[in-house]
Amino acid sequence: MDIFTNSPIHPFFFIFAAVFASGLFILNRFFSKRGPQQLPLPPGSMGYPYVGETFQMYSQDPNVFFTSKQSKYGPIFKTHILGCPCVMISSPEAAKFVLVTKSNIFKPTFPASKERMLGRQAIFFHQGDYHSKLRKLVLRAFMPQSLHYIVPQVESLALHALHSWEATHEINTYLEMKTYTFNVALLSIFGKDGAMYGEELKRCYYVLEKGYNSMPVNLPGTLFHKAMKARKELGRIVAKIMAMRREMKHDHNDLLGSFMEDKELTDEQITDNVIGVIFAARDTTASALTWVLKYLRDNPSVLQAVTVSFFLSSEEQEEVAKQMISREKGALSWGDTKMMPVTSRVIQETLRLASILSFTFREAVEDVEYEGYLIPKGWKVLPLFRNIHHNPDIFPDPEKFDPSRFEVAPKANTFMPFGSGTHACPGNELAKVEILVLLHHLTTKYRWSIVGDNNGIQYGPFALPQNGLPIKLSLKK
Ligand code: HEM
Repeated sequence: MDIFTNSPIHPFFFIFAAVFASGLFILNRFFSKRGPQQLPLPPGSMGYPYVGETFQMYSQDPNVFFTSKQSKYGPIFKTHILGCPCVMISSPEAAKFVLVTKSNIFKPTFPASKERMLGRQAIFFHQGDYHSKLRKLVLRAFMPQSLHYIVPQVESLALHALHSWEATHEINTYLEMKTYTFNVALLSIFGKDGAMYGEELKRCYYVLEKGYNSMPVNLPGTLFHKAMKARKELGRIVAKIMAMRREMKHDHNDLLGSFMEDKELTDEQITDNVIGVIFAARDTTASALTWVLKYLRDNPSVLQAVTVSFFLSSEEQEEVAKQMISREKGALSWGDTKMMPVTSRVIQETLRLASILSFTFREAVEDVEYEGYLIPKGWKVLPLFRNIHHNPDIFPDPEKFDPSRFEVAPKANTFMPFGSGTHACPGNELAKVEILVLLHHLTTKYRWSIVGDNNGIQYGPFALPQNGLPIKLSLKK
């Protein structure tokens, strides 16, 4: 039987349907086989040849550059800065995609000179098994059970810092906070040995940091050259401490102890990571502390709430207060620091508003498709934490300092002061503890005022209150 002649449907229909179906099939094959290479690049502009838009970005506050680009092109856009083509992303979903879901195809990336200076084997530069091993060792040293032990020593560093400021007419908050956070970092890495070698380590580290952002020219007399020499000297000091520990054969609960327990790590790998952790821990936390002091001074009702909370607010705070009164000199415990909800929210809001690390860098290790766009292999990808933290749809009235917004937990991937995913900050608990302990004593015993008209912001590389926030501090009567 001839299906065409007996059918009530016109035979031409079957021919047309067959051609149409095979057309669809071919199109489908074409599109499904089409690699990301055929996709369009994200919207945006690449600026001038080679220099791209570096000048536009650095001639103003970089955050203004990011925000204006975002308003023009949306949450994913391309640009060209510091000699590299980049894709910048500013939605929580895209940040999750790069930092968490597809972290294996977005590798961390730093300029070669910075890797050389900090040490190529430091945790931030790696992925895969070596990175996971280091991360486990670092997390073991900075998990709550390990930090329990050092709270009283962090407290004595905080009290010592406050006493020294009290005796000075005017202090530069950021510089002083850098000393405090450096000492806490040494304590967490070397335990008691940190105090013994503290001055030597400090002297070398300060030379290293001066050269960190200098032109990478390794010739005698240059800052870079001096920094590289200081880097070697730091290595020698760390080696001395390791040799001493090997002789004594004691167990140590600190980061160096955690590294040394792993018998596969070489001394060079340990040294690179010790220096790397000092680098990650110091300026970030000092910057957060400087902003907290500024925001509290600018918002007297919040300062009042923090101060009162340490003495007589909620039930849990009452407990801390009672213990405080019975111990003139302090001796806060880990448990006490977990009962400071008002101050914890102040820290969260500070980290959101100041967004200490405005963004981070990754590099695509292969062509990647995201939301119909191509992110080409070798391009840098920058998740813009600050743009997410300042998005009014996520944080209403984003420029207002309002710790009460954290009474409700923020939605997933919208609050990332410590990053997210495989490289998220392993030192976040330590950072919070050292801020809480210092704020506890500062707000309950001291008052401070900001010197001069201090509403400016400086960048270098973190956003900071102008001139590092000079203040005057005095004991409460
Ligand atoms: C308020 C203070 C701090 C802030 C805002 C901060 C922020 C961050 C951020 C955003 C990252 C992720 C970077 C990325 O994904 O590219 C990170 C990584 C890191 N942070 Fe922190 N951090 C702080 C304090 C600390 C402290 C106190 C330590 C150590 C004691 C520390 C150690 C590290 C390390 C080792 C990494 C690299 C982790 C990895 O690559 O797996 N940070 N930090």
